[in-house]
Amino acid sequence: MSRLVVISNRVAPIREGKVAAGGLAVGVYDALRQNGGIWFGWNGEVGQNPETACESAGNITYVTLGLSKPDYNEYYRGFSNATLWPIFHYRIDLARYSRAEYLGYRRVNAMLAEKLKPLLRPDDILWVHDYHLIPFAAACRQLGIGNRIGFFLHIPFPTTEVLTTVPPHRDLFQTLCDYDLIGFQTESDRMAFQDYVCRELDGLIGTDGSLTACGRNFRAGVYPIGVMPDEIRRLADSYRGRRPMIGRTAEGKLRKTLISVDRLDYSKGLVERFLAYEQLLEHYPEHRRNVELIQIAPTSRTDVKTYQAIRKQLETVAGHVNGRLADLDWMPLHYLNKSLERRTLMGLFRTANVGLVTPLRDGMNLVAKEYVAAQNPADPGVLVLSRFAGAAHELGAALIVNPYDCLGMAEAMDRALRMPLEERKERYEDMMRALRAADLDAWRDNFLRDLRTFGRHRVVTASC
Ligand code: G6P
Repeated sequence: MSRLVVISNRVAPIREGKVAAGGLAVGVYDALRQNGGIWFGWNGEVGQNPETACESAGNITYVTLGLSKPDYNEYYRGFSNATLWPIFHYRIDLARYSRAEYLGYRRVNAMLAEKLKPLLRPDDILWVHDYHLIPFAAACRQLGIGNRIGFFLHIPFPTTEVLTTVPPHRDLFQTLCDYDLIGFQTESDRMAFQDYVCRELDGLIGTDGSLTACGRNFRAGVYPIGVMPDEIRRLADSYRGRRPMIGRTAEGKLRKTLISVDRLDYSKGLVERFLAYEQLLEHYPEHRRNVELIQIAPTSRTDVKTYQAIRKQLETVAGHVNGRLADLDWMPLHYLNKSLERRTLMGLFRTANVGLVTPLRDGMNLVAKEYVAAQNPADPGVLVLSRFAGAAHELGAALIVNPYDCLGMAEAMDRALRMPLEERKERYEDMMRALRAADLDAWRDNFLRDLRTFGRHRVVTASC
């Protein structure tokens, strides 16, 4: 059996029950834990020589390296998170572009491929993850690496009109043709990619569904990332009975709770959510004193300006909501900038009456799936889900909302808080069927099966 080598910008071993924030870390860690293999990438340290270090835990070997300050600034903070991230999330207004940063991004991809090369065996399967590493396969091919290489994009793939705002878009996105298989979260993402390949790279769609462009023949498919529902249920079960003081009155009476968990990111729709919650309390006064919103939002990318700005804005809005509505014995909004241990999170999901997952744009959003999987089947909570999260393609039984419609979200929150048990159960069972049909094992197994099936990198003609 060939070895699996996973390459991602951030390598995130679970330490002390905590996994780094973000769907990629959770999904890749769980997928690798089942299969075993090598996980290669950045160790999260800045200002170090890029020397690789090796550490094994269980059946995973972590091979990591630090980034120099210029590499970090240009590749991670600059082109990845100040250009690609906002544009891929439809926030062209927040994007900025620097040619020097783009060159740094290409340079780091080439450096990572060089560092990986001596570790590879000819039949290793390479699985590359996310927007930091779009040109990674092209860098490998230049070094003569002929292994099968697949790419999975965890975030949305925007429409051609939006994607072409990336100034070097053709130079960059033609490198995707060097992969054998490119995976997306949803059919909309795959269709947007196909449209880009046909319109901007003069690509052709074959009768077998493969794509040919830039002298390469390759495939694109849909592989929605999932969760492990039974394991989540077990974690939530084991937390039973330890409900925290949040959600209780001074006399210990239980209040209804709504819960949200997101990296602190402008794509997550946190401001809109806080304002919608304020509308709920304004238009439905019966909920005042009887509900609490718990927002867990660990900070992220804190040295990128747009993240500093959204953090300030959230502090203002959270202060406004509490200042206006709180009383000596009631705090309507609990806003926490910290990450919690996974078991605690699943326990909080179990006890929360409503899960609020309302991003303005999101590749998948595993929190939506985790919230559902953590519920008690006999008395499940209700998921309120943005139509712009990839998860909405599978979880149509959630209360689907448009996060730009504040009052519409407040109405959905009210409906969720009052939903009768029978309806809650029906929706929950429907969503659980979807979670089981596309769980984390299916995500990994289907992607790797297709990568193995579609054969080695095929050069059709000289490149374009
Ligand atoms: C998202 C991205 C991941 C990223 C994670 C955390 O989930 O898709 O690639 O690792 O956010 O962001 P960070 O910048 O801290 O790695």
